[in-house]
Amino acid sequence: MRTQVAIVGAGPAGLLLSHLLAMAGIDSVVLETRSREYVERRVRAGVLEQPTVELLRSVGLGERMDSEGLPHEGISLRFDGADHRIDFAALTGRSITVYGQQEVVKDLIAARIAAQGDLRFEVSDVTLHDVDGNEPRVTFRDADGTAQEVRCDAIAGCDGFHGVSRSAVPAGLVTAYEQTYPFAWLGILAETPPSHDELIYCYHERGFALHSMRSPQVTRLYLQVAPDERIEDWSDARIWDELHVRLAADGFALTEGAMLEKGITGMRSFVVEPMRHGRLFLAGDAAHIVPPTGAKGMNLAIADVLQLSRALTAWLREGRTELIDGYGETCLRRIWRAQHFSWWMTSMLHRFPGGDPFQHQIQLSQLRYTATSVPAATTLAENYVGLPFS
Ligand code: APR
Ligand code: PHB
Repeated sequence: MRTQVAIVGAGPAGLLLSHLLAMAGIDSVVLETRSREYVERRVRAGVLEQPTVELLRSVGLGERMDSEGLPHEGISLRFDGADHRIDFAALTGRSITVYGQQEVVKDLIAARIAAQGDLRFEVSDVTLHDVDGNEPRVTFRDADGTAQEVRCDAIAGCDGFHGVSRSAVPAGLVTAYEQTYPFAWLGILAETPPSHDELIYCYHERGFALHSMRSPQVTRLYLQVAPDERIEDWSDARIWDELHVRLAADGFALTEGAMLEKGITGMRSFVVEPMRHGRLFLAGDAAHIVPPTGAKGMNLAIADVLQLSRALTAWLREGRTELIDGYGETCLRRIWRAQHFSWWMTSMLHRFPGGDPFQHQIQLSQLRYTATSVPAATTLAENYVGLPFS
Protein backbone atom coordinates (compact mmCIF):
# COMPACT_ATOMS: atom_id res chain seq x y z
CA MET A 1 0.00 0.00 0.00
CA ARG A 2 1.08 3.56 -0.57
CA THR A 3 -0.33 6.69 1.10
CA GLN A 4 0.97 10.17 1.83
CA VAL A 5 0.62 10.08 5.62
CA ALA A 6 0.43 6.92 7.74
CA ILE A 7 -1.34 7.81 10.98
CA VAL A 8 -0.83 5.55 13.98
CA GLY A 9 -3.75 5.74 16.46
CA ALA A 10 -7.44 6.64 16.10
CA GLY A 11 -7.91 8.87 19.12
CA PRO A 12 -8.93 12.52 18.68
CA ALA A 13 -5.43 13.38 17.38
CA GLY A 14 -5.14 10.72 14.67
CA LEU A 15 -8.73 10.99 13.49
CA LEU A 16 -8.79 14.78 13.30
CA LEU A 17 -5.45 14.79 11.49
CA SER A 18 -6.80 12.46 8.81
CA HIS A 19 -9.91 14.67 8.48
CA LEU A 20 -7.88 17.90 8.13
CA LEU A 21 -5.47 16.31 5.65
CA ALA A 22 -8.35 15.01 3.55
CA MET A 23 -9.79 18.54 3.40
CA ALA A 24 -6.44 19.66 1.99
CA GLY A 25 -6.45 16.84 -0.57
CA ILE A 26 -3.87 14.68 1.21
CA ASP A 27 -4.28 10.92 1.55
CA SER A 28 -3.83 9.04 4.78
CA VAL A 29 -4.36 5.63 6.35
CA VAL A 30 -5.26 5.41 10.05
CA LEU A 31 -4.12 2.33 11.99
CA GLU A 32 -5.75 1.55 15.34
CA THR A 33 -5.20 -1.48 17.58
CA ARG A 34 -8.60 -1.29 19.31
CA SER A 35 -12.03 -1.90 17.79
CA ARG A 36 -14.28 0.91 16.59
CA GLU A 37 -16.77 0.08 19.38
CA TYR A 38 -14.02 0.31 21.99
CA VAL A 39 -12.73 3.74 20.94
CA GLU A 40 -16.28 5.08 20.61
CA ARG A 41 -17.16 3.96 24.15
CA ARG A 42 -13.95 4.78 26.01
CA VAL A 43 -14.84 7.44 28.61
CA ARG A 44 -12.22 10.19 28.67
CA ALA A 45 -12.13 13.97 28.94
CA GLY A 46 -15.17 16.16 28.43
CA VAL A 47 -14.33 19.86 28.14
CA LEU A 48 -13.72 21.65 24.83
CA GLU A 49 -11.95 25.01 24.84
CA GLN A 50 -13.44 27.77 22.72
CA PRO A 51 -10.67 27.52 20.05
CA THR A 52 -11.33 23.76 19.82
CA VAL A 53 -15.07 24.33 19.40
CA GLU A 54 -14.50 26.94 16.70
CA LEU A 55 -12.07 24.67 14.86
CA LEU A 56 -14.41 21.64 14.92
CA ARG A 57 -17.27 23.83 13.71
CA SER A 58 -15.17 25.33 10.89
CA VAL A 59 -14.20 21.89 9.54
CA GLY A 60 -17.75 20.53 9.38
CA LEU A 61 -17.74 18.69 12.72
CA GLY A 62 -19.97 21.05 14.69
CA GLU A 63 -23.47 19.76 14.10
CA ARG A 64 -23.96 17.32 16.98
CA MET A 65 -21.55 19.26 19.23
CA ASP A 66 -23.73 22.37 18.78
CA SER A 67 -27.00 20.54 19.41
CA GLU A 68 -25.91 18.18 22.24
CA GLY A 69 -22.86 19.90 23.78
CA LEU A 70 -23.45 22.06 26.84
CA PRO A 71 -22.07 25.63 26.61
CA HIS A 72 -20.75 26.79 30.01
CA GLU A 73 -19.81 30.36 30.83
CA GLY A 74 -17.97 29.64 34.08
CA ILE A 75 -16.91 27.16 36.74
CA SER A 76 -16.96 27.28 40.53
CA LEU A 77 -14.09 26.85 42.95
CA ARG A 78 -15.55 25.37 46.14
CA PHE A 79 -13.55 25.72 49.35
CA ASP A 80 -14.36 26.57 52.97
CA GLY A 81 -17.76 25.01 52.14
CA ALA A 82 -18.77 27.84 49.75
CA ASP A 83 -18.71 28.45 45.99
CA HIS A 84 -16.67 31.13 44.26
CA ARG A 85 -17.66 31.43 40.63
CA ILE A 86 -15.12 32.21 37.92
CA ASP A 87 -17.18 33.97 35.27
CA PHE A 88 -15.43 33.14 31.98
CA ALA A 89 -17.83 35.18 29.88
CA ALA A 90 -17.42 38.35 31.95
CA LEU A 91 -13.65 37.94 32.38
CA THR A 92 -12.70 36.87 28.85
CA GLY A 93 -15.79 37.10 26.61
CA ARG A 94 -15.26 33.40 25.91
CA SER A 95 -16.71 30.09 27.08
CA ILE A 96 -16.25 26.29 27.02
CA THR A 97 -18.41 23.42 25.80
CA VAL A 98 -18.96 20.20 27.74
CA TYR A 99 -18.97 17.40 25.14
CA GLY A 100 -17.39 14.01 25.78
CA GLN A 101 -14.20 12.96 24.01
CA GLN A 102 -15.93 9.81 22.80
CA GLU A 103 -18.61 11.95 21.15
CA VAL A 104 -15.87 13.87 19.30
CA VAL A 105 -14.37 10.50 18.32
CA LYS A 106 -17.77 9.21 17.08
CA ASP A 107 -18.29 12.36 14.98
CA LEU A 108 -14.79 12.05 13.49
CA ILE A 109 -15.17 8.37 12.63
CA ALA A 110 -18.55 9.02 11.02
CA ALA A 111 -17.06 11.86 8.95
CA ARG A 112 -14.06 9.78 7.83
CA ILE A 113 -16.26 6.84 6.88
CA ALA A 114 -18.67 9.10 4.97
CA ALA A 115 -15.67 10.47 3.03
CA GLN A 116 -14.46 6.90 2.34
CA GLY A 117 -11.32 7.45 4.40
CA ASP A 118 -9.08 4.45 5.08
CA LEU A 119 -9.49 3.57 8.79
CA ARG A 120 -8.22 0.19 9.99
CA PHE A 121 -9.35 -0.99 13.40
CA GLU A 122 -8.11 -4.04 15.34
CA VAL A 123 -4.70 -4.06 13.68
CA SER A 124 -1.70 -5.58 15.50
CA ASP A 125 2.12 -5.66 15.44
CA VAL A 126 2.33 -2.03 14.32
CA THR A 127 6.02 -1.30 13.61
CA LEU A 128 7.64 1.86 12.22
CA HIS A 129 10.57 1.55 9.78
CA ASP A 130 13.11 3.95 8.23
CA VAL A 131 11.69 7.05 9.90
CA ASP A 132 14.97 8.87 9.32
CA GLY A 133 15.12 8.03 5.59
CA ASN A 134 13.12 9.28 2.61
CA GLU A 135 10.85 6.23 2.39
CA PRO A 136 9.38 5.50 5.78
CA ARG A 137 7.08 2.49 6.18
CA VAL A 138 4.71 1.03 8.70
CA THR A 139 4.12 -2.71 8.90
CA PHE A 140 1.18 -4.24 10.75
CA ARG A 141 -1.33 -7.09 10.70
CA ASP A 142 -4.88 -6.45 9.60
CA ALA A 143 -7.85 -7.49 11.77
CA ASP A 144 -7.82 -10.90 10.05
CA GLY A 145 -4.06 -11.39 10.69
CA THR A 146 -2.81 -10.62 7.14
CA ALA A 147 0.64 -8.98 7.10
CA GLN A 148 0.53 -5.48 5.54
CA GLU A 149 2.91 -2.67 4.71
CA VAL A 150 2.15 1.02 4.12
CA ARG A 151 4.78 3.11 2.38
CA CYS A 152 4.37 6.85 2.87
CA ASP A 153 5.94 10.31 2.89
CA ALA A 154 5.43 10.87 6.61
CA ILE A 155 4.27 9.01 9.71
CA ALA A 156 2.13 10.70 12.35
CA GLY A 157 2.55 9.09 15.77
CA CYS A 158 -0.87 9.72 17.35
CA ASP A 159 -0.93 6.52 19.42
CA GLY A 160 -1.20 8.00 22.90
CA PHE A 161 1.06 7.66 25.90
CA HIS A 162 1.35 3.84 25.68
CA GLY A 163 1.85 3.69 21.91
CA VAL A 164 4.91 2.55 19.92
CA SER A 165 5.71 5.71 17.92
CA ARG A 166 7.60 7.63 20.59
CA SER A 167 10.15 4.83 20.93
CA ALA A 168 11.07 5.17 17.21
CA VAL A 169 12.97 8.34 18.16
CA PRO A 170 16.50 7.21 19.16
CA ALA A 171 16.86 7.38 22.95
CA GLY A 172 20.02 9.46 22.72
CA LEU A 173 18.13 12.28 20.97
CA VAL A 174 15.20 12.45 23.37
CA THR A 175 14.74 14.73 26.34
CA ALA A 176 11.82 13.76 28.57
CA TYR A 177 10.43 16.05 31.27
CA GLU A 178 8.28 14.35 33.86
CA GLN A 179 6.50 15.04 37.11
CA THR A 180 4.36 12.51 38.95
CA TYR A 181 1.87 13.39 41.66
CA PRO A 182 1.22 11.56 44.94
CA PHE A 183 -2.46 11.02 44.11
CA ALA A 184 -4.85 9.66 41.45
CA TRP A 185 -8.46 10.36 40.41
CA LEU A 186 -11.29 7.94 40.97
CA GLY A 187 -13.89 8.83 38.32
CA ILE A 188 -17.51 7.75 37.98
CA LEU A 189 -20.22 8.25 35.42
CA ALA A 190 -23.67 8.21 37.02
CA GLU A 191 -27.11 8.08 35.50
CA THR A 192 -28.50 11.13 37.24
CA PRO A 193 -28.97 14.79 36.31
CA PRO A 194 -26.07 17.04 37.33
CA SER A 195 -26.57 18.54 40.80
CA HIS A 196 -25.45 21.97 39.61
CA ASP A 197 -25.47 23.53 36.14
CA GLU A 198 -21.68 24.04 35.96
CA LEU A 199 -18.44 22.30 36.94
CA ILE A 200 -17.37 22.54 40.58
CA TYR A 201 -13.69 22.12 41.50
CA CYS A 202 -13.67 21.43 45.23
CA TYR A 203 -10.76 21.69 47.66
CA HIS A 204 -11.57 19.77 50.85
CA GLU A 205 -9.49 18.61 53.81
CA ARG A 206 -10.16 14.98 52.78
CA GLY A 207 -8.98 15.70 49.22
CA PHE A 208 -10.07 17.19 45.90
CA ALA A 209 -13.45 16.43 44.31
CA LEU A 210 -14.91 17.48 40.96
CA HIS A 211 -18.51 17.72 39.86
CA SER A 212 -18.83 17.53 36.08
CA MET A 213 -21.33 16.14 33.59
CA ARG A 214 -21.82 14.67 30.17
CA SER A 215 -25.46 15.56 29.45
CA PRO A 216 -28.60 16.77 31.26
CA GLN A 217 -29.08 13.13 32.36
CA VAL A 218 -25.51 12.00 33.09
CA THR A 219 -23.18 13.26 35.84
CA ARG A 220 -19.40 12.77 35.92
CA LEU A 221 -17.76 12.94 39.35
CA TYR A 222 -14.18 12.53 40.56
CA LEU A 223 -12.44 12.01 43.91
CA GLN A 224 -8.77 12.42 44.71
CA VAL A 225 -7.49 9.06 46.04
CA ALA A 226 -4.08 7.56 46.85
CA PRO A 227 -2.17 6.49 43.69
CA ASP A 228 -2.14 2.81 44.77
CA GLU A 229 -5.86 2.67 45.58
CA ARG A 230 -7.74 -0.28 44.04
CA ILE A 231 -11.16 0.26 42.49
CA GLU A 232 -12.36 -3.06 44.01
CA ASP A 233 -12.03 -1.43 47.44
CA TRP A 234 -14.50 1.31 46.50
CA SER A 235 -18.09 0.10 46.63
CA ASP A 236 -20.69 2.39 45.08
CA ALA A 237 -21.88 3.29 48.59
CA ARG A 238 -18.37 4.23 49.72
CA ILE A 239 -17.88 6.46 46.66
CA TRP A 240 -21.19 8.27 47.21
CA ASP A 241 -20.47 8.75 50.94
CA GLU A 242 -17.10 10.31 50.18
CA LEU A 243 -18.56 12.54 47.44
CA HIS A 244 -21.29 13.76 49.84
CA VAL A 245 -18.72 14.65 52.49
CA ARG A 246 -16.29 16.47 50.17
CA LEU A 247 -18.85 18.28 48.05
CA ALA A 248 -21.02 19.44 50.98
CA ALA A 249 -22.01 23.12 50.72
CA ASP A 250 -25.00 25.23 51.74
CA GLY A 251 -27.84 24.84 49.27
CA PHE A 252 -26.14 21.98 47.39
CA ALA A 253 -27.63 18.47 47.27
CA LEU A 254 -25.73 15.80 45.36
CA THR A 255 -28.12 13.47 43.55
CA GLU A 256 -27.19 9.80 43.22
CA GLY A 257 -27.88 7.41 40.36
CA ALA A 258 -26.81 4.11 38.87
CA MET A 259 -23.06 3.97 38.21
CA LEU A 260 -22.46 3.44 34.51
CA GLU A 261 -18.68 3.36 34.84
CA LYS A 262 -15.97 3.69 37.46
CA GLY A 263 -12.18 3.68 37.32
CA ILE A 264 -8.95 5.08 38.75
CA THR A 265 -6.44 7.07 36.67
CA GLY A 266 -2.97 8.11 37.76
CA MET A 267 -1.74 11.66 37.19
CA ARG A 268 1.43 12.88 35.59
CA SER A 269 2.93 15.75 33.67
CA PHE A 270 5.12 14.62 30.78
CA VAL A 271 6.71 16.20 27.69
CA VAL A 272 9.17 14.77 25.16
CA GLU A 273 11.32 16.77 22.83
CA PRO A 274 11.81 16.68 19.91
CA MET A 275 8.31 16.05 18.53
CA ARG A 276 9.81 15.30 15.12
CA HIS A 277 12.46 12.83 14.08
CA GLY A 278 13.07 12.63 10.32
CA ARG A 279 9.72 11.71 8.75
CA LEU A 280 8.04 10.90 12.09
CA PHE A 281 5.88 13.53 13.78
CA LEU A 282 4.47 12.92 17.27
CA ALA A 283 1.16 14.52 18.29
CA GLY A 284 -1.19 14.42 21.30
CA ASP A 285 -0.66 12.07 24.24
CA ALA A 286 2.18 10.33 22.36
CA ALA A 287 4.25 13.46 23.01
CA HIS A 288 2.81 14.90 26.23
CA ILE A 289 0.50 14.23 29.15
CA VAL A 290 -1.09 16.75 31.50
CA PRO A 291 -2.88 16.01 34.77
CA PRO A 292 -6.64 16.32 34.12
CA THR A 293 -7.28 19.23 36.52
CA GLY A 294 -7.02 21.87 33.79
CA ALA A 295 -9.06 19.85 31.22
CA LYS A 296 -6.34 20.38 28.62
CA GLY A 297 -5.44 16.87 27.31
CA MET A 298 -7.82 16.56 24.35
CA ASN A 299 -7.55 20.28 23.51
CA LEU A 300 -3.76 20.07 23.27
CA ALA A 301 -3.97 16.98 21.05
CA ILE A 302 -6.27 18.93 18.73
CA ALA A 303 -3.97 21.99 18.69
CA ASP A 304 -1.02 19.74 17.74
CA VAL A 305 -2.76 18.17 14.77
CA LEU A 306 -4.07 21.49 13.50
CA GLN A 307 -0.46 22.64 13.33
CA LEU A 308 0.71 19.30 11.91
CA SER A 309 -1.93 19.36 9.16
CA ARG A 310 -0.84 22.86 8.13
CA ALA A 311 2.83 21.83 8.13
CA LEU A 312 2.29 18.61 6.16
CA THR A 313 0.05 20.41 3.69
CA ALA A 314 2.65 23.14 3.02
CA TRP A 315 5.29 20.46 2.50
CA LEU A 316 3.37 17.84 0.50
CA ARG A 317 1.43 20.28 -1.69
CA GLU A 318 3.85 23.15 -2.14
CA GLY A 319 7.24 21.72 -1.18
CA ARG A 320 7.63 24.29 1.61
CA THR A 321 9.50 22.86 4.62
CA GLU A 322 9.58 25.72 7.12
CA LEU A 323 6.42 24.59 8.91
CA ILE A 324 7.50 20.96 9.29
CA ASP A 325 10.87 22.22 10.48
CA GLY A 326 9.22 24.46 13.07
CA TYR A 327 6.48 21.96 14.05
CA GLY A 328 7.83 21.02 17.49
CA GLU A 329 8.84 24.51 18.47
CA THR A 330 5.43 25.94 17.53
CA CYS A 331 3.50 23.24 19.42
CA LEU A 332 5.73 23.28 22.48
CA ARG A 333 4.88 26.89 23.29
CA ARG A 334 1.23 25.96 23.76
CA ILE A 335 2.14 22.64 25.39
CA TRP A 336 4.30 24.27 28.08
CA ARG A 337 1.63 26.91 28.77
CA ALA A 338 -0.89 24.10 29.29
CA GLN A 339 1.65 22.18 31.37
CA HIS A 340 2.07 25.12 33.70
CA PHE A 341 -1.67 25.73 33.97
CA SER A 342 -2.46 22.06 34.64
CA TRP A 343 0.31 21.75 37.24
CA TRP A 344 -0.86 24.98 38.91
CA MET A 345 -4.53 23.90 39.08
CA THR A 346 -3.46 20.48 40.37
CA SER A 347 -1.17 21.95 43.04
CA MET A 348 -3.78 24.44 44.22
CA LEU A 349 -6.69 22.00 44.48
CA HIS A 350 -5.33 18.70 45.87
CA ARG A 351 -4.42 17.71 49.43
CA PHE A 352 -0.84 16.53 49.55
CA PRO A 353 -0.18 13.42 51.65
CA GLY A 354 1.39 14.27 54.98
CA GLY A 355 -0.92 17.26 55.42
CA ASP A 356 1.79 19.93 55.76
CA PRO A 357 -0.08 22.85 57.45
CA PHE A 358 2.11 25.45 55.74
CA GLN A 359 1.25 24.08 52.31
CA HIS A 360 -2.44 23.95 53.23
CA GLN A 361 -2.42 27.67 54.16
CA ILE A 362 -0.55 28.53 50.94
CA GLN A 363 -3.17 26.68 48.87
CA LEU A 364 -6.06 28.36 50.70
CA SER A 365 -4.46 31.75 50.16
CA GLN A 366 -4.07 31.04 46.44
CA LEU A 367 -7.69 29.90 46.20
CA ARG A 368 -8.98 33.02 48.02
CA TYR A 369 -6.86 35.28 45.84
CA THR A 370 -7.98 33.57 42.63
CA ALA A 371 -11.61 33.83 43.73
CA THR A 372 -11.51 37.50 44.72
CA SER A 373 -8.97 39.25 42.48
CA VAL A 374 -10.09 40.08 38.95
CA PRO A 375 -6.56 39.75 37.47
CA ALA A 376 -6.02 36.38 39.23
CA ALA A 377 -9.44 35.06 38.16
CA THR A 378 -8.76 36.30 34.63
CA THR A 379 -5.52 34.30 34.51
CA LEU A 380 -7.43 31.14 35.38
CA ALA A 381 -10.26 31.96 32.97
CA GLU A 382 -8.04 32.89 30.03
CA ASN A 383 -6.09 29.64 30.27
CA TYR A 384 -9.18 27.51 30.90
CA VAL A 385 -11.19 28.79 27.92
CA GLY A 386 -8.09 28.34 25.75
CA LEU A 387 -5.57 30.79 24.34
CA PRO A 388 -5.98 31.46 20.60
CA PHE A 389 -4.21 29.05 18.22
CA SER A 390 -1.01 30.46 16.75
N1 APR B 1 -0.86 1.04 17.08
C1 APR B 1 -2.01 1.64 16.71
N2 APR B 1 -2.79 2.34 17.59
C2 APR B 1 -2.39 2.39 18.86
C3 APR B 1 -1.20 1.79 19.31
C4 APR B 1 -0.41 1.08 18.35
N3 APR B 1 0.72 0.48 18.69
N4 APR B 1 -1.06 2.04 20.63
C5 APR B 1 -2.12 2.77 21.00
N5 APR B 1 -2.93 2.99 19.94
C6 APR B 1 -4.19 3.75 19.91
C7 APR B 1 -5.00 3.71 21.18
O1 APR B 1 -5.81 2.54 21.23
C8 APR B 1 -5.83 4.97 21.05
O2 APR B 1 -7.06 4.76 20.40
O3 APR B 1 -3.87 5.12 19.75
C9 APR B 1 -4.98 5.90 20.20
C10 APR B 1 -4.47 7.09 20.97
O4 APR B 1 -5.56 7.88 21.34
P1 APR B 1 -5.61 8.74 22.71
O5 APR B 1 -4.99 7.98 23.81
O6 APR B 1 -7.00 9.20 22.86
O7 APR B 1 -4.60 9.96 22.40
P2 APR B 1 -4.79 11.30 21.56
O8 APR B 1 -5.53 11.05 20.28
O9 APR B 1 -3.46 11.93 21.57
O10 APR B 1 -5.80 12.16 22.42
C11 APR B 1 -5.45 12.72 23.67
O11 APR B 1 -6.82 11.38 25.03
O12 APR B 1 -5.99 10.34 26.95
C12 APR B 1 -6.77 11.36 26.46
O13 APR B 1 -6.59 13.06 28.09
C13 APR B 1 -6.17 12.63 26.83
O14 APR B 1 -7.97 13.83 26.10
C14 APR B 1 -6.65 13.50 25.75
C15 APR B 1 -6.64 12.68 24.54
C1 PHB C 1 -14.68 15.62 32.87
O1 PHB C 1 -15.85 16.00 32.77
O2 PHB C 1 -14.37 14.44 32.63
C2 PHB C 1 -13.64 16.56 33.32
C3 PHB C 1 -13.95 17.89 33.47
C4 PHB C 1 -12.99 18.78 33.90
C5 PHB C 1 -11.72 18.32 34.19
C6 PHB C 1 -11.40 16.99 34.03
C7 PHB C 1 -12.37 16.10 33.59
O3 PHB C 1 -10.78 19.19 34.64
